[in-house]
Amino acid sequence: MQAILHCDREWGIGKNGTLMFSIPKDMKFFRSTTLGKVVVMGSRTLDSFPGGKPLKKRTNIVLSTRISEERAREDGFVLVRSKSELFCELKKYDSDDVFIIGGAQLYYTMLPYLDRVLVTKVDAVGGADTFFHDLDSDPDWRLEKESESVEDNGYSIRFCTYVNLNRRLF
Ligand SMILES: NC(=O)c1ccc[n+]([C@@H]2O[C@H](COP(=O)([O-])OP(=O)(O)OC[C@H]3O[C@@H](n4cnc5c(N)ncnc54)[C@H](OP(=O)(O)O)[C@@H]3O)[C@@H](O)[C@H]2O)c1
Repeated sequence: MQAILHCDREWGIGKNGTLMFSIPKDMKFFRSTTLGKVVVMGSRTLDSFPGGKPLKKRTNIVLSTRISEERAREDGFVLVRSKSELFCELKKYDSDDVFIIGGAQLYYTMLPYLDRVLVTKVDAVGGADTFFHDLDSDPDWRLEKESESVEDNGYSIRFCTYVNLNRRLF
């Protein structure tokens, strides 16, 4: 199981409930990596999508105590109410196919259980109000791969993979 995200130089991931950057090459990477797979998100991330709708061509799992069963049925996503319900649901899938896609609260909840984190690092400071854990200063995490810098939409980005050296089982 892995998380996928982009962040700025300070591990910032969001501002005012939305993303700070729109970078087509990163969006393409996110789409091609998650298509046909299982994406898991918190309710605020679902609400940040156009019309609050789940992502197409993927199995969407949403963790929320307040979203109705009816909305989940109509919009075609799997609704879970707690971390333990989520863990039960995740046992149905191959762990390599599961992507935690945010936001900060869900990343925080799932971090100890992840095998790896796919981070697109944006060489900018976006003034975030929401942050990911700083993996560079955590000895449990090792930077395994880092691409060359790629320029897109005025930003310089690098695709990085971190591995968890102390993964917890659920
Ligand atoms: N840079 C990136 O790659 C990236 C990716 C995704 C999101 N983001 C950004 O992150 C921000 C949103 O993050 P966020 O932390 O505010 O929200 P979030 O994690 O998307 O959603 C939080 C909500 O999820 C539910 N939830 C999360 N953990 C739970 C748990 N352990 N048990 C029960 N329910 C749980 C709760 O929903 P209920 O209140 O409904 O119970 C909670 O209010 C936005 O700015 C978004 O744009 C950035």
